[in-house]
Amino acid sequence: MRQLLFFSNNKNKIIEIKKIFKKFNLELLSLNDLNISNEPEETGKTFEENAKIKSDYGFNKTGIPCFADDSGICIESLNWKPGVLSKRFLNDFKSNEACFKSVIKSTKKNSQQNAYFKTSISLTVKENQNVVFNGKIDGKISEQAKGGFGFGYDPIFIPKNYNKTLAELSTREKNEISHRSIAIKKLINFLIN
Ligand code: IMP
Repeated sequence: MRQLLFFSNNKNKIIEIKKIFKKFNLELLSLNDLNISNEPEETGKTFEENAKIKSDYGFNKTGIPCFADDSGICIESLNWKPGVLSKRFLNDFKSNEACFKSVIKSTKKNSQQNAYFKTSISLTVKENQNVVFNGKIDGKISEQAKGGFGFGYDPIFIPKNYNKTLAELSTREKNEISHRSIAIKKLINFLIN
């Protein structure tokens, strides 16, 4: 069976992605499986650049074809930020709840509810040879944080045409529509063709 390394230590992402890969004849490894704990600095200005930094690093370290994702939320009332700084932005608050309250407040204050999640996946198959796949999901910021599934900003994001937050959807339901699953499906299409 062909091996493929997913350059991530994020348990939730690994669960989401392993579920998607289940149907395919590929052994999906994560950083934990290979005892890799070092990660490169994400110095890119775009999701694409950061994903490439990580997939190149994983390939160079292991020689195994490696893909990495970089994702985040872009919020209209915050001038489409935090984007690539999504993780840092959340961690700078004393709790996720404090961050959610602040985002909801700015959404209400500016009467701008739109938001989207974006994922870029970079696959490095050979030295200096990578391909990028993008996925995006449009939606809006909820009026209050809701739901216990998922991670990150899921409790305050309502996908377009839905009336529940991503955190109120099961992993399977989220996988049907999420930015990450759209990018992953493009990656899988590329791999099987
Ligand atoms: P990463 O760099 O791809 O790990 O993502 C950066 C941050 O964006 C994460 O720490 C989360 O806060 C947020 N994020 C990315 N994807 C999702 C998602 O599917 N749901 C909620 N938050 C997400």
